[in-house]
Order: sequence, then C-alpha cells, then structure tokens
Amino acid sequence: MSKPIGIGLAGFGTVGAGVYKNLQRNGALLEQRIGRTFEVKKIAVRDLSKARDVQAPASLFTSNPDEILGDPSIQIVVELMGGIDLPLAFVKKAIAAGKIVVTGNKALLAEHGNEIFELAREKRVPVLYEAAVAGGIPIIKSVREAFVGNRFEAIHGILNGTSNYILSRMTGEGLDFAPVLAEAQKLGYAEADPALDINGWDAAHKAIILASLAYGFWIDPKDVLVEGIEKVTAADIRFAEELGYRIKLIASIKADESGAIEVRVVPTLIPKSHVLASVNGVFNAVAVKGDVVGEALFYGRGAGQDPTSSSVLGDLAEAAAFLESPRQSVGFTAHSLYGRSKPIDDTISKYYLRLGVEDRPGVLAQIAGTLAKADIGILSVIQPEGLVDGSVPLILTLHDAPFGPMKKTAQELASLPCVKGTPLLLHMETFQ
Ligand SMILES: NC(=O)c1ccc[n+]([C@@H]2O[C@H](COP(=O)([O-])OP(=O)(O)OC[C@H]3O[C@@H](n4cnc5c(N)ncnc54)[C@H](OP(=O)(O)O)[C@@H]3O)[C@@H](O)[C@H]2O)c1
Repeated sequence: MSKPIGIGLAGFGTVGAGVYKNLQRNGALLEQRIGRTFEVKKIAVRDLSKARDVQAPASLFTSNPDEILGDPSIQIVVELMGGIDLPLAFVKKAIAAGKIVVTGNKALLAEHGNEIFELAREKRVPVLYEAAVAGGIPIIKSVREAFVGNRFEAIHGILNGTSNYILSRMTGEGLDFAPVLAEAQKLGYAEADPALDINGWDAAHKAIILASLAYGFWIDPKDVLVEGIEKVTAADIRFAEELGYRIKLIASIKADESGAIEVRVVPTLIPKSHVLASVNGVFNAVAVKGDVVGEALFYGRGAGQDPTSSSVLGDLAEAAAFLESPRQSVGFTAHSLYGRSKPIDDTISKYYLRLGVEDRPGVLAQIAGTLAKADIGILSVIQPEGLVDGSVPLILTLHDAPFGPMKKTAQELASLPCVKGTPLLLHMETFQ
C-alpha cells in the first residue's frame, strides 16, 4: 500500500475546518475511488488559543504557516487563510518548494493569477482552485476540462449568494435594500463587513478567474465594470417586473467577433423567463454557452463549509492523480486564441433608465431629444403611479448603445432642469 499523501492546511476557519472534517468523513471513500489516502500533517492558524467547532490533535497546530512549507512530508498545501499579501508570499514559496497548491482564494487569483501561474508553469507545479469560484459547483473543472473542445461564446453567472439573497428578498417581499441587509447579517448570510459581497467585487473576482480560464489570458481587474446592488430600490424591482424583467447581480463574460473580451458584474435586468431569473436565495448558478456544447447550466451552493470543502476534496484527488503521473500543465494554461479586453466604454448593452421628472407637458420630448442627439434609441417608456424620492418616476428602456456615450448622456439628462435627483442607469441582458 502506498503511503498517505501529506497535506498542510493553512487556515482552519469555515473552509479549512470543513476540509479536515470531510476528509475524516469521506477519507475511506476517497481511498476506494482514487486508491490513495491523505493525512493532514500540519494546520496553520492565527490564534492557537481559539475554541474550535471541529477538533483536530493539538500537536498539528502552528501559528507559523512557513512550518508547513518546511515540512518535507507535506506534498500538498491547502491555502484557506483569506487576504492577499500573506497568501501570495505563501503560495509562491510553496510553488518554489515544489508543493502542489490548492486554494479557495478568489481575491488572490483575480489580483495575482498571472504571476502565480507563470511561476507554476516554470516549476511545473499544479495550482488548483475549484473552491475559488461558485463554492460547491464544479465550474472550473468543467470550463478547463469538460468544455476544452469549445470556444466560449458567453458565460453568465450569479456568483454571490449574499447579494442574490438580498435581491430575492427585495423581489419577493417588496422590501428595500437596507432592512434586508440588516436581516441577512442577523441570520449570518451576510458578513459583519459585507462590502465585497454588496459592492460586486466578490463576484467580480470569480468572474475574472472564469473569464481568464475561458479565454486564456489574465484579465486586468481595471478592465472589468463592477457595480453593487445597494443602489437598486424596491421601486426599481417593481418597475422591472412590470416590464417583464427581474433584477439580479449578473456576472457577464462575452467574446465579440474580433475576439475582444468583456467582463462586467452589475445589477442587471434579465427576462423573467430566463432560467437565471429563477435562481433565488443564497444559491449560485452559471450558464455557459459554448460553440459545440450549446447551452449548459450549473446550479448549487456557492459558499458554506461543506459545499466549498467538496470542491477542495476534488482538487486533492486531482493533486493525487498528478503525483501518480505528472503532466505538463495543471490549473491554468495561457493560450493565444484571445487576449484582449474590450474597453469598458465600448461595451454594448441595452439599458434601463429611471429618471425623476417634473409632471408637466414637454418633459418627455426634451428627454427623447437628448437621447436622439446621442443616437440612443428608446425601446419603451412607462410612467408608473406614485412618487420615488419625491418626484414622478419615468422609466425608459433603451436600445443597444456603447456604455461610454450612454453614461455621458445619463449625466446630461441629470442636469436638465426638468429632471430631479440622480438617474439610475442599469444594464439589461436579453441573452440574444
Ligand atoms: N467561507 C466560504 O464559504 C468560502 C467559499 C469559497 C471560498 N472561500 C475562500 O476561502 C478562504 C478561507 O475562507 P474562510 O471563510 O474559511 O475564512 P475564515 O473562516 O476567516 O478562516 C481563515 C483561517 O485562516 C487562519 N489565518 C488567517 N490569517 C492567518 C495567518 N496570518 N497565519 C495563520 N493562519 C491565519 C485563521 O486563523 P484563526 O482560526 O486562528 O482565526 C482561520 O483559521 C478565503 O480566501 C475565502 O475567500 C470561502
């Protein structure tokens, strides 16, 4: 019988402790399936005195992650500490030492994927990261392996459970953002500091990883349009509903005919009939469109101890297979099929525009004139009953237009004397 494969766990929080617990639970099953066993040799944490829900022998714990790197019996390091600077240094040292890396750290890969995978390629060390995108959904393996024979036309996803929970509650109960966020925090669905979930950046980190993998080059976060859900009101959700749409925080990844890639994560109106419109609560979903496979849909839990551990266990099995028979590249392969991000201002979309206006004749003509001057066509106009922020709401949906001119025109409209308050501009996605 071959010796157990030595693992070092850097981090024993929600996910790290879950990996330990589930290795105990399903270690024998893994052995039956892959013919190898795993043994956790060291666990690095910040606070050695902390009480823990999942128990492990005290002798395994250290407060110095470098002890994992110095242990020759450890072949796989699992980085689940969170943050960026420490994990970056840790992962680079692990690769340099020839240890396989498994990580769930999306912020680290979105910011430093280029540098990490350059080093990994040079040293021929796998870096695996299924847990970094959509928790328990095996979307990385699918994009990297199952769909390797496809060109990706588009990937759309709901990649943040907290914001999806908040928007679902707002939609279901007609509530505004602030009270739903407060309740989500009370129930533990939102962190005490929910900034990255709410402002779109958690989902954007995942979108950057997916897009980079699908198109073969690391997308610069500066080229990604990211907007949060905090500006969406209960009234907007109601108006969208009247138009036949639902508002979701959608990660949208697309290639145009010239091969330029656009990535955006913004609150988006999507048709109520589209399958992503029915993804509610803390669930995540990813819809992939490949030129060979057509449409494929993935749905599941995008975070949490057990779903995320499931992805880490899958990566451990892949690492074990690599140890049996090393291959040239595992994790991420840069390729030259695509390689250019589309400037945000050139990306084309339909839009929802909410204006607060004076209730008098001639207002619509003035607004239509400003849009016509910018060559932006109107798809529909509704003027719902009631006031929003003290003025009469006017809702326009607008034909395809580049984002730069659209943004500028929305600012021009805001400065018209007949327009009150700040307009709300949202993207619309019809999936055509
Ligand atoms: N939670 C999820 O559902 C989820 C889902 C997908 C991906 N992820 C990613 O997985 C990673 C871990 O998330 P988590 O929720 O498990 O985080 P967490 O609960 O905050 O756990 C972090 C762990 O790392 C340890 N740690 C932090 N800084 C350290 C340091 N300087 N030296 C040694 N140990 C240190 C902490 O030690 P103490 O225990 O002593 O504080 C803790 O055990 C993050 O990158 C996150 O984005 C999480």
